[in-house]
Amino acid sequence: MIIHLSSMMLEDIEINLLLEGIYRYYGFDFRNYSRVSITRRIWHIAYIEGVKSISALQDKVLHDRECMKRFLLNVSVNVTSMFRDPSFYLALRSSVIPILRTYPFIRIWHAGCSSGEEVYSMAILLQEEGLYHRCRLYATDINERVLSQAKAGIFPLKFMQGYTQNYLQAGGKKSFSEYYLVADNYATFNTSLRENMIFSLHNLVSDNSFNEFNVIICRNVLIYFDKTLQTRVHKLFYESLTKFGILTLGKQESIGFSDYESKYKSLDKTEKIYRRID
Ligand SMILES: C[S@@+](CC[C@H](N)C(=O)[O-])C[C@H]1O[C@@H](n2cnc3c(N)ncnc32)[C@H](O)[C@@H]1O
Repeated sequence: MIIHLSSMMLEDIEINLLLEGIYRYYGFDFRNYSRVSITRRIWHIAYIEGVKSISALQDKVLHDRECMKRFLLNVSVNVTSMFRDPSFYLALRSSVIPILRTYPFIRIWHAGCSSGEEVYSMAILLQEEGLYHRCRLYATDINERVLSQAKAGIFPLKFMQGYTQNYLQAGGKKSFSEYYLVADNYATFNTSLRENMIFSLHNLVSDNSFNEFNVIICRNVLIYFDKTLQTRVHKLFYESLTKFGILTLGKQESIGFSDYESKYKSLDKTEKIYRRID
């Protein structure tokens, strides 16, 4: 007897097989990414690859390394902007900067930095607060393409108007245009901002801690992970933070209801800024 499953159930089976195949053959583990979001990305990749089913995509990805490379570049959502959520940067200025002023040297990890807008925003804020020379900003992501954009520090000019507004709302102290030079519809950010930045590939799913940090900034990344994976990442962050280190998450993310909740106190509930206390 042949049992007919709904097309939704078939899609679920095909996605499981695709992600299991990628994990076993290439070692990249997307099995615990949030289902809704990864399903959308997989169909987007199937469209780019010109295949009509997820099983056809599985065949292509497993037999064609170039297709796998493209899969890696397209599977993650890389949306970002400078001074994204300006109120978060205002909160950094008021509740985190005074703490950092007491440290002789400050290591900051931007986990899931995308094309770097968040890291450059942080560098600008730290320069204005007179702390940048004491800082190292480690910026990591799984996507090589966005990392190389981040290293270049060149962003489309068309975004600068919006970024200027964000910067001013974030408590910016200068004229935003002082931070970049304009050429051919692009804004090239001052090299002085890049001096203390280190960019590197790092996978939050499978890689370990690589340093001890005073601040970890991981915004708008955990929303793409399921509970199991979020717990793994919280463990990694906890182990990577110094005692009394600061953890900041995105607006829709939280340490609440995780195994690590009791190890932090909240410095700002709305802006999701936590301090390790245990
Ligand atoms: C939506 S962007 C967030 C960028 C920035 N943090 C912000 O809030 O604007 C999410 C980033 O997380 C990265 N990412 C996804 N899975 C990851 C993983 N397993 N390890 C490291 N980075 C990952 C993606 O490549 C993407 O650049």
